Amino acid sequence: MPPLEPQPRLRVRQESPLNAEPEPGALIASFRTPNELFFIRNHGDIPTVDLETYRLTIDGLVESPLSLSLGDLRRFAQATVGATLQCAGNRRRELIEVSPIPNELPWSSEAISNAEWSGIPLRQALLAANPRPEARHVAFLGLDETERHGHRFQFGGSIPLEKAMHQQVLLADAMNGEPLPPAHGAPLRVVVPGYIGARSVKWLSRLTLRETPSDNYFQAKAYRLFPAAVGPDDVDWDTGLMLGEAPVNSVICSPASGDRLPAGRVTVRGWAMAGGGREIARVDVSTDGGGTWQTAELEAGGSGWTWRLWQAPLDLAPGEHEILCRAFDSAAQTQPAHPSQVWNFKGYANNAWHRVRVVAA
Ligand code: MTE
Repeated sequence: MPPLEPQPRLRVRQESPLNAEPEPGALIASFRTPNELFFIRNHGDIPTVDLETYRLTIDGLVESPLSLSLGDLRRFAQATVGATLQCAGNRRRELIEVSPIPNELPWSSEAISNAEWSGIPLRQALLAANPRPEARHVAFLGLDETERHGHRFQFGGSIPLEKAMHQQVLLADAMNGEPLPPAHGAPLRVVVPGYIGARSVKWLSRLTLRETPSDNYFQAKAYRLFPAAVGPDDVDWDTGLMLGEAPVNSVICSPASGDRLPAGRVTVRGWAMAGGGREIARVDVSTDGGGTWQTAELEAGGSGWTWRLWQAPLDLAPGEHEILCRAFDSAAQTQPAHPSQVWNFKGYANNAWHRVRVVAA
């Protein structure tokens, strides 16, 4: 494994494989997350990639299979896209408070970050390989390996070909104007704006066009949503909803739960994110359990592919307070009140109203 770049301000959730998220306040200090603060989600160790021999294979249902070096890839027209990545397991800790979720990382609400990605639109590489008419999905394969149920295999996933042909979906080799760091997928990763982070496959080695979604474990079993009554012992993996577009979500990053604040005017700040390219239309905050809501101010900057940062001034009387937030997206979809309404045994897609408890004195 190559030496890891320093991650000074990340909270490490797991050393090996490395999984880490920034502190809540640091996360929203700027619209674009600096590379060294961007959350890291790895299912295996970061692979060592030889740039000389590196090739991206494009195969499956194509007329012209390709094997492209990094030099070949640089000959395609370049593009830059702002996109927020969020792990489907973000906010799992609140689901665990409802009922235990063993063997999954207890992410707080910081497994999300926003960057400007540069590279080539995936559609260009796909068009160069000339997809056959029956191709419906693009499967991605990473160079990293992981083990599940006694099998060792590479991380993978897929997206529908229709989504892959959107101009925003990139094969990225740069992040915030710097070469892609090893922890984020160097030399090349997919960036799928509007979808759960798992589909943005890092250390990309292969694109395979298929009639059906990828049969990789991380597409066929993990990252599927099951009803609350289904558990690991009675799960029929084929029946779960394959996660793609993320649900609308919002979180209070400041103040943090447990903070003691001077009574009076407090500025509440956080992020809001819609899935599938939808825009954030409104963010509300409440201090009376959701009885009444105050509209927050959305900060400038952002698109349907990125988060929106927001803030709201609140007057807090001396005493204990629970501050809540919820967002609406441009399809008028909003968030459920409580994590118990979305609990699932893998702990994905928690978008319940976010709550922080503070004391004003
Ligand atoms: N790609 C590979 N090859 N291996 C992985 O473990 N993790 C996925 C995705 N791509 C992963 C991967 C998950 S679950 C997420 S949320 C994002 O990468 C996180 O990207 P980041 O580490 O750059 O934040």
